[in-house]
Amino acid sequence: MNGARFDGGAAANGLGARLGRLLRIGLVRYALALAGFCLVLVLALAPLASVLVEGWARQDVDLRSRLVHRSVRERVASLEVGGDADLTPFFEHLAADERLLALGYCADEKTLRFATRLMPPALDCAGLPLRRTDATAVRRYAGVHVHVGVYPMRLGPVDGHLLVLHDLAYVDERAATARIYTILALASAVVGLGLAAAGVVFVVVRRWTRLLMVTATRVDLAAPPVAGGRPVSPFSREFRALVRELRTEKKAADGIHVDWSPDTLRRLLTEELPGVEVLVVSNREPYIHDRTEAGEIELKLPASGLVAALEPVMRTCGGTWIAHGSGSADRETVDETDRLRVPPAAPDYTLRRVWLDDDEVEGYYYGFANEGLWPLCHIAFVRPAFRARDFERYRAVNERFAEMVVAEAGRDDPIVLVQDYHFALLPRMIRRRLPKATIVTFWHIPWPNAETFGICPWREEIIDGLLGSSILGFHTRQHCNNFIEATDRFIESRIDREHDSVTLAGHDTLIRPYPISIEWPPAALAAQRSIAECREAVRARLGLPQRIRLAVGIERFDYTKGILDRMAAVDELLVRHPDWREKVVFVQAAAPSRSTLEAYRSLQAEAIRLAAEINARHGTGTWQPIRLVIRHHDQSEVYELFRAADVCVVSSLHDGMNLVAKEFVAARDDERGVLVLSSFAGASRELSEALIVNPYDTCAMAAALAAALTMPEDEQRDRLVLMREVVRQRNVHRWAAQMLLDVARIRKRERIHGRGAA
Ligand code: G6P
Repeated sequence: MNGARFDGGAAANGLGARLGRLLRIGLVRYALALAGFCLVLVLALAPLASVLVEGWARQDVDLRSRLVHRSVRERVASLEVGGDADLTPFFEHLAADERLLALGYCADEKTLRFATRLMPPALDCAGLPLRRTDATAVRRYAGVHVHVGVYPMRLGPVDGHLLVLHDLAYVDERAATARIYTILALASAVVGLGLAAAGVVFVVVRRWTRLLMVTATRVDLAAPPVAGGRPVSPFSREFRALVRELRTEKKAADGIHVDWSPDTLRRLLTEELPGVEVLVVSNREPYIHDRTEAGEIELKLPASGLVAALEPVMRTCGGTWIAHGSGSADRETVDETDRLRVPPAAPDYTLRRVWLDDDEVEGYYYGFANEGLWPLCHIAFVRPAFRARDFERYRAVNERFAEMVVAEAGRDDPIVLVQDYHFALLPRMIRRRLPKATIVTFWHIPWPNAETFGICPWREEIIDGLLGSSILGFHTRQHCNNFIEATDRFIESRIDREHDSVTLAGHDTLIRPYPISIEWPPAALAAQRSIAECREAVRARLGLPQRIRLAVGIERFDYTKGILDRMAAVDELLVRHPDWREKVVFVQAAAPSRSTLEAYRSLQAEAIRLAAEINARHGTGTWQPIRLVIRHHDQSEVYELFRAADVCVVSSLHDGMNLVAKEFVAARDDERGVLVLSSFAGASRELSEALIVNPYDTCAMAAALAAALTMPEDEQRDRLVLMREVVRQRNVHRWAAQMLLDVARIRKRERIHGRGAA
């Protein structure tokens, strides 16, 4: 330090030091008192939180257990199972539910007649409350807490008890987690307050000390700022912060504790991916301008699960969506750069339209995408057609979109979200042009097993194209596994099964399941009238009496949706239960789709023929059981129909996810209505409280329709409450957030590796 000191300097320094010491002692005491107070508060409140959570979770398990019992009882009753039947396979099928540990049947106190694989060996019928009424018990087997539902159930002559076992480990985990979070929350609140108060005291005393010191000393202002005696390197601080973030972000990664909404997604973008550029590429555009016969321009939102899911995300994230301009008035509604801001009423992002000629649409869209890949991936027994000319067009159109991505990108490292089977080759093409881009490809349809996929003549090129992505997403784990198996079989690459990644030519691609969903609450719901008004309006529009029960199906006219199969089920229902005649109507709203293709034209013709045949068989002068409405329905009509319905039928023969099922659940804020859902739709993995059916089994579908039409209201509510919670939590913002969190992690890792190497 330069410069002389006044004599009083030493004294002032001594005073300053003493004051400083006093301040430190005071602060330590304060901190100790605070810690004590904090401890008492935490010890008092933490057990309360876990007791509450345990209580809720147990209620949840009770409810699930009763639902399982109900469906076993119905199945046993409907099949008229005899005393000698072996229910083990049926029980094993039900026990596939993630929280259901085991199912069993005690014929009497000594005989455990059936038991699924995971039934604890120590379980003893005699030790359970085998009463005449339903009972539950909590037991500990091999150190694991188990909830046992015991329900009297007659099997032929045997008067035994059904056992429904749920693993309660998750309840304990939840309680422990609640305890930890309560402790953390309380501790941080108290520590935060304490620190703030300590800060104020500290600043006041410091000022006072300084005042004394300044009167007696001269301070050398030229000294360089140091921290802990060492100069601080901004680079190393930032570097360490990044490493720290990577360590802690795992907790937030799957967003379990976040209620995802436009706000939280926006925050994720600004905090985790500041300043990024987001580009989306899909074939189908979110807004179509068509010229009507009257010569007016009409704005349409297409019937597409992809668009329904991605549009709310783009409204939140902004950016540019590049898509085929397929509307007859599309060219008239863009600016001179082929762009327009959308949604037209209140723009949030840019739509960049790409023009394709008839030859391109024929080969790329109708040909390879919809006559080749679509039937190949859906396995709905429509033979895929692979024509070399179509594939050439497909490749050429993918190249055109790759050029478009480069032209639209304002920087060399955008996030590019490539959508669906129209663009299998695009990720590799973008990677060559923009090596620093983070490319997330989402495959909205199923991926078949390796053997089935192997019939595609260009299987290697397709897999290679997709492996240009940084992340490749599917709806389900099964589809990810199928893709990895196909890669293993057809491509020379390194597969890391622990992390689900594939490395090809030094580039890693993560293969991840991201179950897609809808926005919550759906925008179209806001403008809906009450359920009673919707019921009245729809019945009036269809000319149906108010007492008529309504079952609905709403989708594109596609052979994968099982439309013929559900009509056959209605037919079967009326044959088996003629008392439903003149009491129920099934409305099938079907939007014409890909109508130039033979498979679609013949499906439509067959549906019209079958509806007429069934109506002729059962109908009367005033009542027809099937109403086939073939036209585009906008979102508000779709939601109105859902709200007016008693039953919604989704009977896809194979479907990546199926958002119609989730939309129906979201539409029913009255917690009434029944969803009959195909086990071959990805949605059945999440919506397990629907009536899950095999659409190929007409009798089972008819039985499910009968069960749906007679389901008591409290059971409808029990099921819908659980499903609505799933759709609310796992909404489309969570879908996008999971991908963007993975993107953020990849980008940080790349930055760390880049700098680490430097
Ligand atoms: C499926 C596909 C989407 C497609 C939609 C409608 O949901 O996964 O990519 O947009 O069907 O089909 P279309 O051919 O009319 O776009």
